Order: sequence, then structure tokens, then C-alpha cells
Amino acid sequence: MDTKPSSDALEALRRALGPGGWLESPADVEPYLVDFRRLYRGATPLVARPASVEQVAAVLHLCQAHRIPIVPHGGNTSYCGGATPREDGAELVLSLARLNRIRAIDPDGYSITVDAGCTLQAVQEAARAANRLFPLSLGAEGTAQIGGNLSTNAGGTAVLRYGMMRDLVLGLEVVLPDGRVLDQLRVLRKDNTGYDVKQLFLGAEGTLGVITGASLKLFPLPGDYATALVALGGLGDAVALLGRVRDAFGDAVVAFEFLPRIAHELAVKHVPGTVQPFDHPHPAFALVELAVPARIPEFAERFQAFLVEELEARRLRDVVVANSGAQRDALWHWREHVPEAQKLEGASIKHDVSLPVAQLPAFHDAAAAELARLAPGARIVAYGHVGDGNLHYNLSPAEGDRDAGAFLARAPVVNRAVHDLVARFGGSFSAEHGIGRLKVGELERYEDPVALELMRAVKRAVDPLGLMNPGKVLAAPTIGDGARDAPQAQAPAAVPGAARA
Ligand code: MLT
Ligand code: ZN
Repeated sequence: MDTKPSSDALEALRRALGPGGWLESPADVEPYLVDFRRLYRGATPLVARPASVEQVAAVLHLCQAHRIPIVPHGGNTSYCGGATPREDGAELVLSLARLNRIRAIDPDGYSITVDAGCTLQAVQEAARAANRLFPLSLGAEGTAQIGGNLSTNAGGTAVLRYGMMRDLVLGLEVVLPDGRVLDQLRVLRKDNTGYDVKQLFLGAEGTLGVITGASLKLFPLPGDYATALVALGGLGDAVALLGRVRDAFGDAVVAFEFLPRIAHELAVKHVPGTVQPFDHPHPAFALVELAVPARIPEFAERFQAFLVEELEARRLRDVVVANSGAQRDALWHWREHVPEAQKLEGASIKHDVSLPVAQLPAFHDAAAAELARLAPGARIVAYGHVGDGNLHYNLSPAEGDRDAGAFLARAPVVNRAVHDLVARFGGSFSAEHGIGRLKVGELERYEDPVALELMRAVKRAVDPLGLMNPGKVLAAPTIGDGARDAPQAQAPAAVPGAARA
């Protein structure tokens, strides 16, 4: 059976989108076919580029009428293949890039309302121009779009203080699979009116509808930041320091990032401009940042005094404090380029896990012991947002090992060991990167069966034909499972976590 959209259906879509509203030449479509990590390559007959919510609604309505599956596409920075169409060319890609207006900003009400296709950076900049902070912060913020951040419930480096994307949402506008528009673009902090249906679409990765707009929380713009890089003995020292720094400074602590020595070595090797803050190769580091309230500038001095005390008590091995914006940027430049450095080093096996913070050191050691057996010589590059319990527990091959194939062949066994251990420690195998196509099997394996049943029931209720991003998050239903005309998912082509550079 030919599952590709008919020429009539495509013509109707072109008409609804108007001039400039679609792409279809192979060169134009190419960037939409490959995911950020190059794990998947798909095909599509057409990339729709609607310029208004009405056009999104028209596209979804037509797709429902013609039974065309849709893959919503933001900045294409997903790590799990969530925005890549499957290989058979049956799915339409729906880019939100032309929906990129800042709709409204209310500095007194601390809210901003934006189109889903705005980049995260554009939202941050609009907030800053109004003397407010939009706090979501991540390496890909110049490219990642708000719609993707919402759809994957993005995390990043400021979750410790401000929460994940879900925590930053006041209201949402979503086009449902049949073209109806759910208009919940409110800016209310209090709104107890039955089920909070907008929550369904946050973290749903486009499997229930297309987010077209959002009202988001803003925060007071910090007067300044106090940023330090501390040298430590290991992850245990970092977790202990996190407790003390939060005791001392409470919610002023916005970021607490852990970096092992190898994260520095790889960055020095591959990323021009990486700082060399210490003359001694310490085992590990933490990048600690406090937001200094505009009216209490002595905060920064108190932070320095705290660090000196820690140093004198030999709880830290060394410390550098950023004395200027440029020095702060240099420290963050290193941190944010660690994924790139690991990629440039060669093949990698990645895990995005979270655990109760106190369990992180025991988990790390237990996983290292397992991996010494399962992937002898592999280098553990475990770094990340330890302040909120999220560790990117990644692996690189042994130094000089050029056999990427043999290394990656271990990925299934390695993933199983790491994720089983995460489950045993009460953690999550997907902290902030989502499920996409890559981790569908892991969700089935580790999620509570009742939660999975509820997820499937929601999917059937909101998207009965199974047209929204099929095969992402949940395996596409089989025929007779409430979606007779739904396309079938293909088995994931990539192994969770594994990537060639
Ligand atoms: C990061 O925190 O740098 C990314 O989320 C993790 C990664 O690239 O593995
Ligand atoms: Zn991260």
C-alpha cells in the first residue's frame, strides 16, 4: 500500500499555505531530514512553513482529512530524534520557524507571550530588554525554539533555581490534530479550573498537537552574577559543597554544574578558547553561580568569603572567581562546549539520567564498576546539572581506540546496565532530553505500567488517528488498537545513547 500523500492532498496543502509557505526541493528539504545527532535520516514530500495559527490549523485539518502523519519541527536540536520524519516519505514536516513573533510582554505582571517558533535566545533578549529575566538557559539556545523547549520540557543549567520549562509556563495555545485551537493563553498565576489540560502538551513532543504559542513566566533580572569554578576531589565533594552553598545562599544559587577532569581535557583538545584556570590537573570541578540581587551587591563579597572559608577548611582544592563578564563567559564557554568536545573526540554513548542528588556519588561509582567490566578502557565523561540531580553519564572509547564500530556495538549492553542501575537508585533514564524516537523502548521498559496505560489512553483520546508524530514517545498503535488508519511506527534504527561523532 502506498502510504505517501496523494498529489491532490499536497496541492490542497500548498494552497492553504500560500506562496512561500512550503519547501519541497531536495536541497531545501534536506536540513529537515536529519536529526541533530545524525542518528536518523528520514524523508518527506513537503515541509510546511505556516505563517499563522490559522494556517497551522488548516494544515492539521487537511492532514486529518487525508490521513497524513505530521512531524512538528522546531530548531532541530533534539537529542532523541523527536523532530525527524521516518524513512518512507509518508510524513509531512511542519516547521514553526515563521511563527516567530513576541506577541506581548508585561513587565509588571512578569509575563511574556510568544509564538512557538521564537528561538529561546529571542525570548531571553526580549525579556532582558524589558528589564526582566526569562531563565531557561541551555547550550543550543540560539537555535532551539520555544515550541521545542515546551514540547520536550527542556531543562538546562538554571533548573536548580527556576525549574524546567513546564514550571515556566502560564498559558498555552495548541492546535489539535483535527484543526481545533485550544486557547489557554492566560497569564494567571492562580487558575484552578478543572483539569490543567495544557500540561498534557508539555513534554508530549508533538504527539498530541502542535504548540503554536505560550505565555511564560518572567523573573526579576539579577543585578549581577557571582560565578566561581572550584576544584574538587570528585562527585562526592561536589554534592557536599552543593548542600553547603545552598544552606548559605538559598535561592540565590542558580547553577551548580559538575565537570570531571576529562571534560576539561577534551575541551582543551578540541575547543579553541577553553580556559585553563588552574595550573594543576584536579580530579573534578564545579561551576557555581549565584544571581546577585540588584539591591544587595555585597552578596558577591559574601560568596567570596564563603569560598575562602571552604578553601581554608580544605574542602576545596582550589578556586577561581570570575571578576568580569568576560571571565564568566569564558567559564561558561568551557561548560557549554563539553558536548561538542566529546563529539569531536569520536564516537560516544550518551545517557541523560537524573537521581536524587544524594545518590549521585554512589550511582556514579556503581556504574563505573559495571562499565569497567562491560566496556573495559572506555572513558566515563559524566558531567552536568548536579544541582538538580541530572548527570550526563556519557562514555567515550579508550584513548587511541579508533574502532568506533566495536565501541558502539557495546551500547545496548552498556545502556541496559546504566539504566537498570538508574532504576535501582530511584532515578530517571530521561532527565531533560525527552524520549523522541530513540528511547521509546526504554520508556516501555522502565515506566510504571499504569502510567503507560494512561499515556496511551490520552494519545487515543486526543489523536485517535495516530497522526501526530507517530512512533515518538509511544510506539505507534497497531491496527485494531483504536487507530485503523494510523501509520505504523518503524523500529528505532538507532540504539539509545549511541552516536558516531
Ligand atoms: C548539556 O547539558 O550539555 C547537554 O544537555 C548534554 C549533552 O550534550 O550530552
Ligand atoms: Zn544537559
